[in-house]
Amino acid sequence: MPKLVVVNRAGEEKTVDADNGLSVMEAIRDNGFDELLALCGGCCSCATCHVYVDPAFADKTPAISEDENDLLDSSDHRNETSRLSCQLTMSDALDGLRVTIAPED
Ligand code: FES
Repeated sequence: MPKLVVVNRAGEEKTVDADNGLSVMEAIRDNGFDELLALCGGCCSCATCHVYVDPAFADKTPAISEDENDLLDSSDHRNETSRLSCQLTMSDALDGLRVTIAPED
């Protein structure tokens, strides 16, 4: 099962198991990180699941959609590694993926 490394807003790092097919958002939420609100439940309409993806995984994550891109533009905290975690699906290719929960907007 792929591993996911999550860094919370306090800078604490935790490695969790993330089933193949689960979104990164679901894996984070299911492991007790309550600071990731994910208000829309994963349908790419709220941007409260914003994370920063370790640049080492940039070429392994799927391309960003127009909707995701527009939503990320609404965040004051967007940077070049920003993604919406509900749009990233865990797979063996992403084993060891490291994400940092972005500050709240
Ligand atoms: S959970 Fe709402 S955009 Fe990801």
